[in-house]
Amino acid sequence: MNADDIGDDLLDVLISAERLQARISELAARVDADYAGRELLLVGVLKGAVMVMADLARAMHLPVRMDWMAISSYGSGTKSSGVVRILKDLDTDISGKHVLVVEDIVDSGLTLSYLVNNLQSRDPASVAVCVLLRKRAAAQMPVDVAYTGFEIADEFVIGYGLDYAERYRNLPFIGTLAPHAYT
Ligand code: IMP
Repeated sequence: MNADDIGDDLLDVLISAERLQARISELAARVDADYAGRELLLVGVLKGAVMVMADLARAMHLPVRMDWMAISSYGSGTKSSGVVRILKDLDTDISGKHVLVVEDIVDSGLTLSYLVNNLQSRDPASVAVCVLLRKRAAAQMPVDVAYTGFEIADEFVIGYGLDYAERYRNLPFIGTLAPHAYT
């Protein structure tokens, strides 16, 4: 899927596919260096982190393990419901393991702070967070993020895993949605 396929629902391309890949390679190199000699479990948060998880893992040299959690915090609107619940838990026991949570975006921070607290209660060796996007005005809940791809303004974005009402996830770039597409 590309810009032409969604026509005037797309307001702007915020981060091109090339910039995404270049930044993810940089993050992968940092994660490789930071976890050298240790076993790392990447925990991707479904569904938004599918693309960043796939590209980050492939850009890394360490032989990581991968697992997934599904969490619901948004309805089909554009703002957090504030209610976080686990829809799918990990298949892996993380006690004694180094865990890197891979997430698409931090907005209010509710989802990630819930998730990190939840994982920390399982007695892992460490828990760190990698997010592709961080909204500048965000953070009702403080979250310690070790690896951030891009800081963006407080606007609703789509593409590269991020959806509006389950659409646009398969755009290869991050874009902004035209208001008529969600009002
Ligand atoms: P938070 O709990 O408010 O930090 O929201 C985190 C979750 O909300 C992310 O994992 C996304 O699934 C979703 N989300 C937040 N902002 C956006 C956006 O701009 N576009 C699409 N999804 C978003």
